Amino acid sequence: MRRFVILGHKAAIQPNFSLNDLPGGAGRMDVLCRAIGAAFFLSHDLRRDVEVTLLLQNQVEVKFVGDRIRHLNPDERSTAALIKHALEKIGNTDDGQVESTPGVYVGRNDISAVLDRLYQFGAHPIVLHEDGTPISSFSFPDDPAFFLSDHIDFTREEEQVLADLPRLSLGKTALHTSQCITIVHHYLDQQQRDEREDLVLCHKVWGDPKALLIKGLLEDFGIPVNLVRQAPPSVYPMAVDGMAEVRLMVRARDLARAREVIADYFEPPVSE
Ligand SMILES: C[S@@+](CC[C@H](N)C(=O)[O-])C[C@H]1O[C@@H](n2cnc3c(N)ncnc32)[C@H](O)[C@@H]1O
Repeated sequence: MRRFVILGHKAAIQPNFSLNDLPGGAGRMDVLCRAIGAAFFLSHDLRRDVEVTLLLQNQVEVKFVGDRIRHLNPDERSTAALIKHALEKIGNTDDGQVESTPGVYVGRNDISAVLDRLYQFGAHPIVLHEDGTPISSFSFPDDPAFFLSDHIDFTREEEQVLADLPRLSLGKTALHTSQCITIVHHYLDQQQRDEREDLVLCHKVWGDPKALLIKGLLEDFGIPVNLVRQAPPSVYPMAVDGMAEVRLMVRARDLARAREVIADYFEPPVSE
């Protein structure tokens, strides 16, 4: 599951805003609707493993749950209509949440309570911020929950609540909220593909020391390597001086580059 929590500082919390004036009278509701689009929509499809929480003025929460959502369309106006309808329903509840349309839940809440609930679900909150750890060296946890602000920076109070969370940067340039979501999806999609991708044989060596040396070199070139020992050294029948064969496995798309690096620094790589 990927979760996004978006803090809408000026967004309307009463349903009497006009769908014709989302940037103005509705308090930049257009920013939030674009973010929802970026979080859920693929070309001709919808991401079902996504949840988006809009926290409006730190008072009202409107949550969109991908595997239940209905009536969500790519245009911002119809998304705003779902939010408007949710705000109409909130009058019926003092606490707790109501499902205003399938997959859209509304209730009163603040940032601390949203954070607590994420922890209860076993999610791992992360703040998206220009001054965080660069995405290239960030290690994503399972079930990440990304906190983003709208067109305005996080307030001092929000910064305090979020102070202990890891910070992820997508670069020093301030991007739009929806753009950040698209980039995060791209990285996580890539990571999922990598995990599923079959590895291919790149080289075979005898013994761990040399295998680890080559692995370190390839990783310096940004090529991840898995070492596969053909059998534990104690049972391997062809052990040479107590050493077993070690296979260096890489992603198919890294194969040509990995073989070049090994040839440049060590020896012509062995294949099957
Ligand atoms: C439009 S920005 C907020 C205002 C922005 N700081 C400015 O000076 O205009 C919206 C949100 O997207 C996220 N964001 C924007 N650029 C980012 C970046 N380069 N890296 C990580 N997060 C970013 C942050 O959560 C930020 O609060």
